[in-house]
Amino acid sequence: MTEKILILDFGSQYTMLIGRRVRELNVYCEIVPYDKAHYDASVRGVIFSGSPSSVRSEGAPQADLEAIPAGIPVLGICYGAQWLAWKAGGSVEQSDGREYGRASLSVEDASDPLMKGVKASSLAWMSHGDTITRLPEGFHSIASTPSVSNAAFRVDGKPVWGIQFHAEVHHTEEGRRVLENFVRGICGCKGEWTPANFIEATVKSLRETLGNDNVVLGLSGGVDSSVAALLLHEAIGPRLHCIFVDSGLLRKDEFDSVLASYMGMGLNVRGVLAADRFLGDLAGVTEPEAKRKIVGRDFVEVFNAEAEKIENVRWLAQGTIYPDVIESSAVPGASATIKSHHNVGGLPKDMKLKVVEPLRLLFKDEVRRVGKALGLAPEILGRHPFPGPGLSIRVLGEVTPEKVAILQEADAVFIDALHREGLYDKVWQAGAILLPIKSVGVMGDERTYENCVALRAVTSVDGMTADWARLPYDFLASVSDAIIRKVKGVNRVVYDICSKPPATIEWE
Ligand code: XMP
Repeated sequence: MTEKILILDFGSQYTMLIGRRVRELNVYCEIVPYDKAHYDASVRGVIFSGSPSSVRSEGAPQADLEAIPAGIPVLGICYGAQWLAWKAGGSVEQSDGREYGRASLSVEDASDPLMKGVKASSLAWMSHGDTITRLPEGFHSIASTPSVSNAAFRVDGKPVWGIQFHAEVHHTEEGRRVLENFVRGICGCKGEWTPANFIEATVKSLRETLGNDNVVLGLSGGVDSSVAALLLHEAIGPRLHCIFVDSGLLRKDEFDSVLASYMGMGLNVRGVLAADRFLGDLAGVTEPEAKRKIVGRDFVEVFNAEAEKIENVRWLAQGTIYPDVIESSAVPGASATIKSHHNVGGLPKDMKLKVVEPLRLLFKDEVRRVGKALGLAPEILGRHPFPGPGLSIRVLGEVTPEKVAILQEADAVFIDALHREGLYDKVWQAGAILLPIKSVGVMGDERTYENCVALRAVTSVDGMTADWARLPYDFLASVSDAIIRKVKGVNRVVYDICSKPPATIEWE
């Protein structure tokens, strides 16, 4: 990488979003804990993130300003801005509670390069308990809101800026422009971070690293492992050996259709039928975490057994993406407490393989862009996220082959209808859940006592927070009707209207 922006993470829940916004400007960036920054020749600028801490509290995180090479521009956001002001002798005090949510941002100094082209008045997103009440000498305000006079500042004669609003969130109308002004204008980044450049550089380095070695990769049917496979395939062709396991916990017909897609893309892939083993091991188990562990362990064992059949394997490839990498080194704070799930499958520790992770620098949306550029089949590219433990955690309570079959049918009716009505791509994730209760119904002249299925569809940007999708009533009515008519064993359908938080996307 010839140019990059370094983002120092002080623990804000928005840090990752800053990274995504910079990458959207086609500029490569890295997020590092605030006390672990390393400045090599490619660093063009530094951004300090927000933080759940207050600069006034004891033990508040401190950056090492001396370590930043002279002339490298710095932008502090929220806590980052307050810390810069406080460190230079300004005053930071508790705000009076009016600095949450939307605020009207007015540009005070239109000649400042950070404010170039920014509308004189626009909406900005505020979220802070502290505020800069007095700027230190040599700092001047370049933007304000009715309740915050120092919403943005510049340090005279130095390439240092601070903004107390969150330029990285969508609600900030001019956020993209402010970040672009910093990254492209002030730091002078050219914007060379494109899918094509990433693919070219990654394929080259994979070839160098892997030489003539064989690599094994577990495919899940999801976007990440599929894109990792295509990149490796591009680099080493049939020396990449892919394994796709049928756990019996996939969606209806998914194993066959996904395997066919993989073969159609030219991948060297073998399908392993292991449904009996997974379902056998799950018999009698009701506790969600216990189910997760069983499925995880079985994946590892089935994968291991299959991988051992391939000669000369030296590497295990994984579809790890950047948010996983950041989470494992996160600064304690808000960004660390909102955890996503670990992928099931884990690393087979006893295989003594070296690990190769071609996507470890990419955010999810970048993985999709790279996948598209590599010709990933659209049905895999646009696929909803699906939990590693599969339907085992959507059959609440004990998992039996009969219950999985009922759930697969109901789920297929729902998912097919979403596709047919053009709603599939409008939701982040959807699926059916089989509840461990029966209820009374009436069909024809018969009283029934059958299963209940819950439908879940959510909108989200990253799965960390989610809202229930406002699917049209008529659509829900027709899906409910079709499930009860077509799926034997179901006489009631309900729709989940909880957001996350306080609920989660999955029920277990
Ligand atoms: P929750 O239920 O925590 O899920 O709101 C957030 C996202 O993670 C997926 N998920 C899982 N993925 N193993 C996985 O690989 C799991 O055990 C697991 N549980 C939930 C879920 O489908 C959603 O996309």
